[in-house]
Amino acid sequence: MKALEEKIIREGIVKKGNILKVDSFLNHQIDVAFLDEMGKEFQTLFQKHPINKILTIEASGIGVAVMTARHFQNVPVVFAKKSKSSNISDELYHTTVESFTHQNTNDVVISKQYLNENDHVLIIDDFLANGCAVLGLIDLIHQAGATVEGIGIVIEKGYQSGGKKIRELGYHLESLAIIDHMDDIKGEIVFR
Ligand code: G4P
Ligand code: NA
Ligand code: NA
Repeated sequence: MKALEEKIIREGIVKKGNILKVDSFLNHQIDVAFLDEMGKEFQTLFQKHPINKILTIEASGIGVAVMTARHFQNVPVVFAKKSKSSNISDELYHTTVESFTHQNTNDVVISKQYLNENDHVLIIDDFLANGCAVLGLIDLIHQAGATVEGIGIVIEKGYQSGGKKIRELGYHLESLAIIDHMDDIKGEIVFR
């Protein structure tokens, strides 16, 4: 998505450790009109799929998931929760997600009330790095007996392994921007 690449060039800040800060529109302040445009783009990209639910993970996937849902008919957003205690219960689907960026592991849960075998799910998230978050969401969808229809990502860090892993598994993955290279000293960002 050309407008997204331009916005990343204008507003993004490359930090040490290959971290891209996009706090001005995605991860701290939210540019609602711009997220709405991205939501519309996801609807266009996944319109052939019979999607009845959008799934994301708290916190920063929620905004873009909600704006995407606006462009589908009667599709709710469910967000997986990072649970504090190792919260094992009969009422929850449960998985663990390792974060390479934050160097921690989260227990992630979804209530069985909000995901079941009749669901055809579009996964939405803001960043794709090593793919742990998306693979955790896929695991939760499979536990529910539901179907993964596709995965929509705002910014894929193409030099990390997540995109390759998920495409090789055969999923329909669409990233609105794919970064092939970043340089924190020159402040350079190269798109695929
Ligand atoms: P992975 O899920 O693809 O394996 O990614 P990783 O563990 O490396 O990333 C963990 C968290 O860091 C995710 O947020 C992800 O969105 C975010 N992240 C990864 N790389 C970048 C980056 O370059 N810039 C920014 N701004 N975020 C990045 P999270 O743990 O789900 O937390 P939340 O922020 O959504 O609450
Ligand atoms: Na994040
Ligand atoms: Na996220």
